[in-house]
Amino acid sequence: MANPWLSVPLADYEGHMSSAEVQQSGALSDLFGEALAFRRPESVAVLGIAGGNGLDHIEANVTKRVVGLDVNPRYLDAVRQRYSRLPGLELYCVDLAETVVHLPPVQLVHAALAFEHAGVGRCLESALSLVAPGGALSAVVQLPSELEEPVGPSRFPFIQNLKSHFSLIDRTWLCKTLEERRFRPTYQARRSLPAGKGFWMGIFAQA
Ligand SMILES: C[S@@+](CC[C@H](N)C(=O)[O-])C[C@H]1O[C@@H](n2cnc3c(N)ncnc32)[C@H](O)[C@@H]1O
Repeated sequence: MANPWLSVPLADYEGHMSSAEVQQSGALSDLFGEALAFRRPESVAVLGIAGGNGLDHIEANVTKRVVGLDVNPRYLDAVRQRYSRLPGLELYCVDLAETVVHLPPVQLVHAALAFEHAGVGRCLESALSLVAPGGALSAVVQLPSELEEPVGPSRFPFIQNLKSHFSLIDRTWLCKTLEERRFRPTYQARRSLPAGKGFWMGIFAQA
C-alpha cells in the first residue's frame, strides 16, 4: 500500500496543522527552536521535514549543514524553494519506515512526530545512526488526549487518510529504549495543545 502521505498536498497539511483547532505548527516550530538553542549544533538532520517547519530558527553562522528527509518529494521541493539560502542544505526522499539511511552523521537529529508516522523500527535506527559521536537526538512525541482521537477532525479531507498510519509513541518506552542505546536525557519540554493534546520533547545526548 502506498504511503498515505504521498496523497496529502502540502497546503492541506500545513493548513490543518496551523488551523485554530489544531495549532500544532507553531508548537513544533518552537520546540525545534528550543532544541537548536540548547544544542547549537554545527549540523542537524530533520526526519519527516514536511515543508521545513521551524527551519527559520537555524542560525547560518552556527549550523552549517542541514539534512532533511521525507517520503514526499513534493514536500522536499517546497523546502528546497523556501530555504535555498540555508548553508549546506541536503534533502533526501526516503521512506524511513522501510530504509535505514546511511549518511555522514550530524550533531543533532530532530524527529518531531516522525516515529508516530514512520514507526520505531528502521526510523529509530536511522535516527540513532545519524547521530555523530557526542551528538544528540531530540524527539517530539504527541501525548495522548482523553478528549479526542490522535488524528482529530479536520476540514481538510486528506488528513483522515493518515489515521491508519499513526501510532502514539509511549514516552516511557522511548526513554528506556534510548537509555539502553546509551543516550541519556539532558532536556525536556512540553507544549499544551487544543482538545487536551500536547507535545513532549526529550533531548538525548549520546553517552
Ligand atoms: C507530522 S509531519 C512532521 C512534522 C514536522 N517534523 C514538524 O516539526 O513540523 C510528518 C512528516 O513525516 C513524513 N513521513 C511520514 N511517513 C514517513 C516515512 N515513512 N518516511 C519518511 N517520511 C515520512 C510526512 O511526509 C510528513 O512530512
